Order: sequence, then C-alpha cells, then structure tokens
Amino acid sequence: MSEGLKISFSAPELVKGGTLVIFLAEGGKLSDSTKKLVGSAAANAIHRAIEVEAFKAKPKSALAIPAPYGLDVDRLLIVGIGSDKDRQETDYVRLGGAIAGRFGTSRSVNVLLVGPSDWRVDAAAASDLAMGMRLRAYRFDKYFTKKRDTDQDKPQGAVSVKIGLAAFSDARKVAKTGEAIAEGVIIARDLVNEPPNVLDPVEFARRASELTKLGVEITVLDEKQLARIGMRALLGVGQGSAKESRVVIMRWNGAKPAKYNKTGPIAVIGKGVVFDTGGISIKPAAGMEDMKGDMGGAACVVGLMHALASRKAKVNVIGAIGLVENMPDGNAQRPGDIVTSLSGQTIEIINTDAEGRLVLGDVLWYVKETFKPQLMIDLATLTGAVLVALGQENAGLFSNDDTLAERLFAAGKSTGETVWRLPLSAAYDKMVDSKFADMKNTGGRHAGSITAAQFLKRFVGDTPWAHLDIAGTALGSPESDINKSWSSGWGVRLLDRLVADYYEG
Ligand code: BES
Ligand code: MN
Ligand code: ZN
Repeated sequence: MSEGLKISFSAPELVKGGTLVIFLAEGGKLSDSTKKLVGSAAANAIHRAIEVEAFKAKPKSALAIPAPYGLDVDRLLIVGIGSDKDRQETDYVRLGGAIAGRFGTSRSVNVLLVGPSDWRVDAAAASDLAMGMRLRAYRFDKYFTKKRDTDQDKPQGAVSVKIGLAAFSDARKVAKTGEAIAEGVIIARDLVNEPPNVLDPVEFARRASELTKLGVEITVLDEKQLARIGMRALLGVGQGSAKESRVVIMRWNGAKPAKYNKTGPIAVIGKGVVFDTGGISIKPAAGMEDMKGDMGGAACVVGLMHALASRKAKVNVIGAIGLVENMPDGNAQRPGDIVTSLSGQTIEIINTDAEGRLVLGDVLWYVKETFKPQLMIDLATLTGAVLVALGQENAGLFSNDDTLAERLFAAGKSTGETVWRLPLSAAYDKMVDSKFADMKNTGGRHAGSITAAQFLKRFVGDTPWAHLDIAGTALGSPESDINKSWSSGWGVRLLDRLVADYYEG
C-alpha cells in the first residue's frame, strides 16, 4: 500500500512551494485560464522554456522546470494533453497515473485542472485523475525490510495532492466513488500479490469477511458444510492439501426490495485456487511461483464487493468464491478418478491441473440454485491457452447471452479493461464428453480456453452467464501508467462500470 496519497479538491489557485502541475495543449501556448492563474511574467518564462526544450505537449508527456521564474513553487510540471482529437479522448485515469509517476520527492502537489475550452475539466475528470494517481502509487512492498532506492517514482511518506478545478464541490462527491473503486482494485492486487504460505483458503476467507464492516453479509462454508451440500468436485481439488477448502458467499443488498424481487441479484463468481501446483499432474518448476496468483478471479470478486458496498451501489449483488489449494499428496485426487458434482453430473478427472473448472462448476451451480440470479459472471485464471490466443491485452469472454456479452465489451472499452469474445458451440461441447462419466475435465490439445468454458456452461442452466478467462490479465502484468505491480487487480473497474451503467437504479 502507498503510505497515503491525500487528495483534496478546491477552486484552482496557486499554492506556495511543492510541485505545481499545469496542462498544455499541442501548439505550445498556455490556455487563457492557465495564463490567468500563473500570471503573465511566469507565462512568458514558461513559453520560453517550452520553446527551448522543443516540448511538443504530446498526451501524457511532461516537462519539469525546477524553481520556475515568477512562481513561488519548487517545481513546475507541464503536462501535455495533445491535439484536439487527443483531448476528446483523454483517459483521465491513465493521465492521473502518468502525473503521479512524476511526483518525484514532492510531498505537496498542486494540480491546476484548467485548460483549453475544448478540454473536459469536470468533476468526473477530476475523480478519474485522482483514481489514476492512487492506482499508480500502489506498491506491494510489505515484505521488504529495507527501502529500495530503485523505487524512484514511489512517493516516500505521505503526499498531499490538491486538485484545483471550477467544479470542485461536485468533484468532492464524485471522487468518493472513484476512491471506493480504487480501494477495490488495490484490495484485489494485494490478495493476488500475497504469498501462498500466508494466503491460504482460511486466511482468504478471513480477509473477505472484513467486508462485513461495509454492510456486506458474509457466509463462510467450511469443508464439513461443503460435503453436506455436496460440492464434491470442489472438495476433490483441495483434498491433497493440508489446508482446508472454503467457499465464501458475500451479499450486498443495495437495491430497493421491489426491484430485487422482480429480477434477482447479479452474481459474480471467482476462482480462488490459492496455489496451483497442478496436483498429481504436476506443473514444471519454471515459473510455478506465479501460481500464487491463481486466485485472481476470487480477488476481483472481493475487490468488486468492496467497491460496490463502499460506494453504496443501488444494486443487489452476490459474490461467491471457491477457495482451495491444489497439491500433490498421498490423499490427492488422481487422473482417472470420477467425482459427482453438486449438480449431480459426474466428471472424469483426466488432468488434475484442470482444477479451476471443477471448483467453479460447483460454485456456479450452487449460486444458480440458491439465489436464482438474473445473471452470473465468473472470473477465473482458467487456462494458459487464453494467453496464447489473446496475450495480456484482453481477457477471454464467453457467454450464452449476447446482451450481456455486448455490455461487458462496452464496459471494457470505457475502462480500458478490455475483453474479446470467443465462441461456444455444440461441437466444442462434445469435446468434453467422457467415455466413463458425463464429462471429462479436459478437452484435449485444441481450443483449450473454449473447452474449459464449455465445461463451465454445463453448470449454468438457462441463466444468462458470462465467463471471463483472466489468466493473461490478472497477473504478471506489464507495467503501465496505472500499475507498477505484478498484479493488476483486473476486473474490478470493468465490473463496477458494468453494474453502474446497466444494473443500478
Ligand atoms: N491456473 C492454470 C491456468 C493459468 C496458466 C493461469 C497461466 C495463469 C497463468 C490452470 O489451472 C491450468 O493449469 N490450466 C491448464 C489446463 C489444462 C491442463 C487442460 C493449462 O492451461 O495448461
Ligand atoms: Mn491448474
Ligand atoms: Zn489453476
């Protein structure tokens, strides 16, 4: 966690000392509103500096001037916002991240969110800037016993950021929502980054239970209860582990009761394999440490529930996560085993490393039967094959419902957490038929992400459902303007936006 970015909003005004951030459009001339704030002497000096440095003001580029002439600040940071077309498409979250990457050692930053008249500087823009700053400042450094001086752009100690804009009083309200979402992303990142000896299923369930503070109702099902219910596919995955398995149900009831009765809640289901060795079908050693992140789906669900509850979203949502550890052991599940899932359908285990679908099949069925949701979305680091297909740019999207798929696609576009739909069909479904049971848990070498999705589809009935394969997007994340961490917290912003745009009211 960053040691505190304190972000506040006020009318645009100069503040002595610290770093002053101003925005500049392509063409190299300060906007009238910026000029008025800094004064004409400083404006002339700034124009000279821009010329001397041939600063092009491309989006997110920056020019830093120490002790600028005519301004009583330590540092001036001129941030580019590009051409008029660039400005229309400004992603304020990423812009905020890029700015926070330039804070350096400043403890006090004053952002003048004013600019040319064709640039949006409203409350939502300010809130998104703040969110980007929070996401950028995140570090998972709790296990370092010494500070690292390589961590150049990490703000050291508390940093106070003041964003000045005309709509400051609206911004104060809107930014509360943005802060709730950023916190949700950071919770998801923390869970994924946490080492697997610390974050076992029981500890994961404990952390999820902290959501009760926000008014989320929590039920933790232990192994005894799971056996009584009949989640034998899920329990089979965990049976080789010394750690007990858990299922956690989270309920946020933010909608009016009438609406709840009409449509049923939205359900979000996450794969929570706290460590995936592959089991008896053990994985190769190289890179196996990454499998601590095989609970990225469950982490997203917890982060999302935090965001929704903390911004008091007017919607009823069920979060459900299946928490297990997949280990080889004398008691572990074998290839050749046949298990009876909660749905009653039998599954022949071909490869114990195809464990995520076994966990999700039971949780999907349980949620469908128990809560009669209007729709279900599951998130899972399910297949290496989705990395082959889509890399780290898009999550794989599978759905039995075009409307839901289109909404997810749109929410992906607007948050930058993009998804790409892959097909489902009867022919792919046949690939998971088994010689000995109703189905088998792998579909052979071809179309690995699709056959995994077909397997899940056998546990959702007629409920509108979408599956997001996030093996490429949740972990091992490339560094970006808004993330310097191994884990991205992928999906929290996407699903929060989906809920806000289509299911609240
Ligand atoms: N957890 C893995 C998938 C994974 C791979 C997640 C890379 C994140 C990064 C999953 O349980 C798995 O092992 N899948 C197998 C399925 C196969 C045995 C059918 C895979 O993708 O190889
Ligand atoms: Mn696996
Ligand atoms: Zn796995």
